[in-house]
Amino acid sequence: MHKVGLDIKKNTMSPLLFPLLLLLVHIITGAAVQLCPDYYSETCPEAETIVRGVMKKAYDREPRSLASVMRFQFHDCFVNGCDASMLLDDTPTMLGEKLSLSNINSLRSYEVVDEVKEALEKACPGVVSCADIIIMASRDAVALTGGPDWQVKVGRLDSLTASQEASDNIMPSPRANATSLIDLFAKFNLSVKDLVALSGSHSIGQGRCFSIMFRMYNQSGTGRPDPAIEPKFREKLKKLCPLNVDQNVTGDLDATPIIFDNQYFKDLASGRGFLNSDQTLFTFPQTRGFVKLFSSDQGEFFKAFIEGMIKMGDLQIEQPGEIRKNCRVANRRPINTF
Ligand code: HEM
Ligand SMILES: *[C@@H]1O[C@H](CO)[C@@H](O)[C@H](O)[C@H]1NC(C)=O
Ligand SMILES: *[C@@H]1O[C@H](CO)[C@@H](O)[C@H](O)[C@H]1NC(C)=O
Ligand SMILES: *[C@@H]1O[C@H](CO)[C@@H](O)[C@H](O)[C@H]1NC(C)=O
Ligand SMILES: *[C@@H]1O[C@H](CO)[C@@H](O)[C@H](O)[C@H]1NC(C)=O
Repeated sequence: MHKVGLDIKKNTMSPLLFPLLLLLVHIITGAAVQLCPDYYSETCPEAETIVRGVMKKAYDREPRSLASVMRFQFHDCFVNGCDASMLLDDTPTMLGEKLSLSNINSLRSYEVVDEVKEALEKACPGVVSCADIIIMASRDAVALTGGPDWQVKVGRLDSLTASQEASDNIMPSPRANATSLIDLFAKFNLSVKDLVALSGSHSIGQGRCFSIMFRMYNQSGTGRPDPAIEPKFREKLKKLCPLNVDQNVTGDLDATPIIFDNQYFKDLASGRGFLNSDQTLFTFPQTRGFVKLFSSDQGEFFKAFIEGMIKMGDLQIEQPGEIRKNCRVANRRPINTF
């Protein structure tokens, strides 16, 4: 079926008809889709401008919300491909991903995506997928906070379902060490370099005390803090997150939390990583070389980060899809629940 769509002579029909026809084939068959930068150039030429505009407004309201939205790409793409499954609210018959172990009380700024979707539905109703919104908005979050800008591929479809179980099984713990992170990323064909570069996303945003309590007070069950934390930084974290703290209190993931730069890697090299999964990238020899490279050469970091984001954005599984009207709810129900 997928081949049939591609065999149609593109130049014998209106430029609008071809993408629509191809979309229909994908919606019916669930075949993997072909992504390209100009997918919406005929059907919604303003798409990129609209997304960037809403992200700019979000930045003006709350700079951190850009980090929060950028994190969506990771939590979406690793769980059954980049299909906006993580944006679906729970329904009486489906446990979504919003309450999974890694996402509950943690993922935030869903309303920014809603705002983007509303603006796009006004300009070109039913055309731009929520899955593509996540990809465009993540890129914009990086570009608007001082990081690199790049061209993204689009044309993804939105899933009809979500899986809390898949999210629980796949998403890594903040306790993870570099070895287990390398293994996890390898399952997605992401290299050690991709892992270290993509972790550089923690150059913006914040984390909760909840995510570092074990590290502060009982690393690996030793009853002691992680020895890799630099002593002055440990004192600072102890003040932020004392033993009986409200674990929703948040701290910065690096010293410049609203600027996308290579400060994160400099912090790791001086024992000032926030999460265990951050600091371990410097502690373990398999990843330390890339931390050193990125901490001394921001250009190398940006280049590797773009590469990693594009590879991560390519992740997809074959499943039926659609263009959701509202990113929180599927338009139709999956066939097996009819
Ligand atoms: C390598 C494995 C990773 C682990 C273990 C991890 C874990 C975490 C944790 C625990 C937090 C703080 C959550 C909280 O305390 O509520 C966080 C925040 C964040 N993560 Fe990751 N992460 C990883 C990779 C990534 C990747 C690949 C991206 C994006 C490309 C990303 C983007 C972010 C961002 C931007 C934030 C800050 C969000 C905000 O301020 O709301 N992370 N991550
Ligand atoms: C890394 O973490 C994995 C999974 O928790 C564990 O089995 C392994 O022993 C750890 N490796 C090292 C070197 O600490
Ligand atoms: C990784 O690459 C292999 C070989 O190219 C491919 O068969 C596999 O589907 C890829 N895995 C993912 C998760 O993309
Ligand atoms: C530290 O962790 C170990 C193993 O998980 C546990 O047995 C111990 O009770 C913990 N200690 C404290 C003070 O929480
Ligand atoms: C964090 O806040 C949420 C509500 O936003 C609450 O349900 C949860 O229990 C709090 N978690 C902790 C660890 O205090």
